[in-house]
Amino acid sequence: MTLESSRLSPEIDAQYAELKAQLAQHAHLYYVLDEPSIADVQYDELYQRLERLEAQFPQLVTLDSPTQRVGGGVLEAFRSVEHGQPMLSIRTETDTSPQGAKAFDERMRKELSLSGSPEEIDYVAELKFDGLAMNLTYFQGVLVRAATRGDGLFGEEVTQNIRTIRQIPLKLKHVSSLPIPQWLEVRGEVYMGRSDFEDLNERQRSKIAQGLKNEKTFVNPRNAAAGAVRQLDSKIAAQRPLSFFAYGVGVVLPKPLEPQGAESPLAPESQRLMEDPAVNWVTPKVSNSTQALLSLGIQDHYSLLQALKAWGFPVAKQASVVKGAKGLVQYHQEMGLAREHLPFDIDGVVYKVNRLDWQMRLGFVTREPRWAVAHKYPAQEQVTTVLGIDVQVGRTGKLTPVAKLKPVFVGGVTVTNATLHNELEATRKDVRVGDTVIVRRAGDVIPEVVGVVMQDRQIESLPFKMPSHCPVCGSLAIKEAQEADHRCSGGLFCSAQRKQAIWHFASKRAMDIEDLGEKLIDQLVDTQTIQSVADLYRLDLSALVGLERMAEKSAANVLEAIEASKKTTLSRFLYALGIRHVGESTAKDLASHFGDLDRIVHASQEALLDVNDVGPVVAQSVRTFFSQSHHMELIEQLQALGVHWPRVQAQADMALPLSGQTYVITGTLSQFSRDEAKEALEKLGAKVAGSVSKKTTALLAGAEAGSKLDKAIALGVKVLDEPAFTHLLKLHASPSN
Ligand code: IVH
Repeated sequence: MTLESSRLSPEIDAQYAELKAQLAQHAHLYYVLDEPSIADVQYDELYQRLERLEAQFPQLVTLDSPTQRVGGGVLEAFRSVEHGQPMLSIRTETDTSPQGAKAFDERMRKELSLSGSPEEIDYVAELKFDGLAMNLTYFQGVLVRAATRGDGLFGEEVTQNIRTIRQIPLKLKHVSSLPIPQWLEVRGEVYMGRSDFEDLNERQRSKIAQGLKNEKTFVNPRNAAAGAVRQLDSKIAAQRPLSFFAYGVGVVLPKPLEPQGAESPLAPESQRLMEDPAVNWVTPKVSNSTQALLSLGIQDHYSLLQALKAWGFPVAKQASVVKGAKGLVQYHQEMGLAREHLPFDIDGVVYKVNRLDWQMRLGFVTREPRWAVAHKYPAQEQVTTVLGIDVQVGRTGKLTPVAKLKPVFVGGVTVTNATLHNELEATRKDVRVGDTVIVRRAGDVIPEVVGVVMQDRQIESLPFKMPSHCPVCGSLAIKEAQEADHRCSGGLFCSAQRKQAIWHFASKRAMDIEDLGEKLIDQLVDTQTIQSVADLYRLDLSALVGLERMAEKSAANVLEAIEASKKTTLSRFLYALGIRHVGESTAKDLASHFGDLDRIVHASQEALLDVNDVGPVVAQSVRTFFSQSHHMELIEQLQALGVHWPRVQAQADMALPLSGQTYVITGTLSQFSRDEAKEALEKLGAKVAGSVSKKTTALLAGAEAGSKLDKAIALGVKVLDEPAFTHLLKLHASPSN
C-alpha cells in the first residue's frame, strides 16, 4: 500500500483516483451529511469497480481507498505512539448549577483584563460527548494514524479499527479556500449512538441465546465504544457501529518542514510512504499550532470547527458561539433539557474562548488549557452494590424481583431499590447478591440496573432464581404460558395481596381514606384485626388504640376518615374494587355509561364493549370479577355497612340529538380536521360511515369533494356544506360545551 500509487499508466491512475474521489464524496454525503445523492446499489457498483481495479493492479492500492475500511489482520497488541502535541485534559467545573458557568466567565474576564469593561467574551459552547478522545493524524491529507489519548503524551495506535468508522475521512476533502496542511492532527470523540448501542446489544443477546460463548452485552454506549476501539481483531471492530465528532486539533503544520539533512523528520515517509503500515511515523514536535492556524486564516475556534467540517469531519450542530456568562448559562440550560432527546450520550457541555489569539494569551496550566472548561450535568449513572434481591407481591399477586441497593445518589435522587421486573429480565441481566452494578436514572424514568461489573463478581455468587412459592403466604407461584409474570395463587388468602388491595381501596383516587397509611394497614392485617376492606367499616376505637403509635386522638381521626369515605361516587367505588385492567378512567367510563352498579354487574360482553375504550380484555375481566360470589358478597357487605353513592344518569339512556343518524364526511374542511368533525358528530349520537348509501342521513362535503358528492346527489342524499355543518353543531351545542 502506498499513499501515492506507483505509476502504471496515466489512464489507469486517473481512473483509480476518480473512482476513489467519487466513493469518498458519496460516503461523506451519506455518513456525515446524511444526504445521500445516489442509491445504495449505485454506490455498490462503484465500489465493485474499484475492487476489480485493485484486484487487477494490486500495486495501485493506497491507504485512502475505501477498501481499506473493512478491517485487517489480528494484532497481538497495540503499539504505543507519541502524540505530536500532548492530548490535554480539561478543567471540570463540578458545580452543576449556572454558577459554574459564571465562575468561568469571571476568571476569563480577569485574566484577559476585561474586568470592569462592558465587552462580553465570545465563547464557543459545545456538547461534551461521552465517548473516547481520539487523535487522528493526516499526512499530506491522508489518514495515516489514529491513536487513543492514553496518558496524554503516548497513546495506543488503533488505526485499523478507526478506519472502519465511515464518518472519518480517509482523505481530507479539498476546498479551494482552505489549504490542506502537510501534517494535521484532528482531535475528537469516538462514540456510539444510542440506537446503534441498542441494536448492538440486541444482536449480542441473540448471539448469547444461540449459545455463543465469549459474547456479552454492554452496559452503556461508552463502554461499547471503548471495547470496539480496543479490539485487536479489526474485523470485529468493523461490526461495531461507531461514530465520530471532531472538536479540535493537535499539531498543525501548514507546509513541509525545511529538510534538515538526513535527520529530517518527514523526509523518508514522504517518498516511500506506508509501504509497511507499521512504519514508525516520526511525529513533528510543534509547540504552536495556534500560530499555524492563524497562518491558515483561521482566527477563532468556531472557524476551526467550520474548517474541520469542510475537510469532511462530522461536527456537532449544537456547537455555537455565545456571549458572556449569560450565553453560557443559557446554553447549559438548553442542552440540559435537550440531553434526553439527543441521539447520543453527553455528560456536560464544554466552553471555549473563541478567539485564538486570546487562547494563546491565556495559555496552559500544567496539563490543562486555561481557556476551556467542562461544565457537567448531574451523573445519570452510578456504581453501587446489590445488598439483596427481594421478591415483592403486588395487589394482583404479581411477583416482582427487586434489587436492594446500597444507597446511591444518581440523576438527582437517592436510589435504594431498582426493579428487575420479572424472571426473564432478572435472568437476562444476571444480577446477583453482592454484585457491583451500574444504576441509571435518566430524566424522570424509574431507576434501573443497566449492568453488572463482571470483574468484581464474587466466584461463590449464585444466579437469582424466581421462587416456586409466594414468599409471603407460601402459595404456589404460577406463570401462565404467554405471560412474563409469576403470580401468587393465594388470592386474598395472601396477606401481601390483601394489604395491597386494602391500600388500593383506601388510596386517594379510590375511597380516599386519608389517615389510613401503609404502616397502619400492615399492622391491621398482621394482627388480624381486619381481613378485608369491609372490616375497615367495622373498626372501633378499642381496636385501634392498642396499635403502635396510635393514640386516642389519631385513632379517632382514622375512624372519622373511614366514616367520611362511605359517601362516595360509583366510579371511585368501581376503581377501589381493584378489578384487573380497570383503572381510574375506565371506571369513570363504566360509571357514566351504565349509571348504576347493578347494570354493570349484569352487563353482557357486548354491552360492555359499547363503552368508550373498553375492549375484549377489559370486558372479560369485568365479567370475571362480578361472576365470583365472594366479590358480590363483599359488595353487599360494603353497602350494608353504609357505603353509598348518588345515582348518575346513564349515557346509554340519554337520547342524543343525532341518535340513529348516519353521516359521511368528504373533501377538505377549513375549520375542522376530519377526525374533529367525526368526533363532534359522534358526541351528538350520530354514526359516521365511510361510504354513501341510501341509508345515509347526510353527506358533509368540504372543498374538493369528489365521487362521494356525486353519489350523494345521485341517491338524493342531503348534502351539508361547512357553514351548514357548523350551524348544525351550534344548534345542538349543550350549554356546558
Ligand atoms: S476539548 C484542550 N471538546 O472531554 C481541550 N473535549 O477534554 C481538549 N470531550 O476525554 C478537549 N467532548 O475527549 C473537548 N466538545 C469537546 C469534548 C471534549 C468530549 C472529552 C475529551 C476528553 C475530555 C476532557
